[in-house]
Amino acid sequence: MGDLTIISWDDFSRLTLTEKRPYLARPEGDGMPYHTLFAQQFDRELLERLCTLANRIRFINKSKEGALYLKNVLAHKRAMLYFSQPSSRTFLSHLAACQILGITTGSVRDAATSSEFKGESHEDSIRTFSSYFDMIIMRSPEQGLAEKMAWELSNSERPVPILNAGSGKDQHPTQALLDIYTLLRSFETKGGVDGRTITFCGDLLRGRTVRSLSYLLTNFRDVKQIFVAPDALQVPDDVIGILKEKGVKYEIGSDLKAATRVSDAVYMTRIQDEWDRSKGESAKIDTSRFKFGAEELALLGKDAIIMHPLPRRDEIALCCDHDPRAMYWRQMRNGMWIRAALIASVFGFERKIMDCGY
Ligand code: NCD
Repeated sequence: MGDLTIISWDDFSRLTLTEKRPYLARPEGDGMPYHTLFAQQFDRELLERLCTLANRIRFINKSKEGALYLKNVLAHKRAMLYFSQPSSRTFLSHLAACQILGITTGSVRDAATSSEFKGESHEDSIRTFSSYFDMIIMRSPEQGLAEKMAWELSNSERPVPILNAGSGKDQHPTQALLDIYTLLRSFETKGGVDGRTITFCGDLLRGRTVRSLSYLLTNFRDVKQIFVAPDALQVPDDVIGILKEKGVKYEIGSDLKAATRVSDAVYMTRIQDEWDRSKGESAKIDTSRFKFGAEELALLGKDAIIMHPLPRRDEIALCCDHDPRAMYWRQMRNGMWIRAALIASVFGFERKIMDCGY
């Protein structure tokens, strides 16, 4: 059962992510997160519950009566979207998810327009938001900030849940949820996700979506993960460490064509050059073999899919866009449904929506 008030920040920050999980759960004990900070908070049962709820919300929202019912569910709540890093999809899909549930929203999209510009600390800014809002959805370039804020808020007079919408190079748990939802939907009538082979390609070193999704995939049986990247951008040791610990099959390589032939999903990512330590650092890396084009498409299995968290640059050729196996557009829309499911669950409305008459 979750309670961050019974542990000091120093003790909490020293725990492993798995050990942190119970402190972040809803106090009601239904297993759902209160603060959503990293992928390690989700086991298979929880993933399946969220995907079932997302399906339910998607269905209810189809009729006007259903959509109006949903709009009333959280009409008494307000959420703050605090994005101090660029975002299109994650911002808009959280906003749309709030709108589906009737939540009123406020937003800061640029620290330069908030009092942080006057020198206010993140801590003070977030306490300010919690004075006016019932949830904070935040994206930050700073790894660990969402976690610190969650602890601070839980130990303040106005504890409100934090939802991590991307923390530095570290984690992007709701992106991983929508990726899992996309995989579950894509393979729903084709035997499910167990036993599949998933290839990650691109900047695996600095892509936070890769770290979060790689972990969530360990909840499925016999899923093999293949990591295809230039040496300088290969998957970091901590991700591999988890796979080893869990006995997950994996391969590290640089041949996208070979990986495509044996994959059920190819998850492309862009070069994350905003993290370059010196100007033009990434541009010096030869990334030409890490792009998905017509040749790769021809090698892809007929039931396999291409995924991408987006935004894309040139790592997926435009000629792939109209292929039925290109799943990145649907993946993007899935984000709205799974985020609505997560937000409803954080506020304790999972059962009410599941059991409603629509
Ligand atoms: C990703 C991110 O911000 O980490 N984008 C997203 O949220 N869909 C991936 C990226 O920026 O490359």
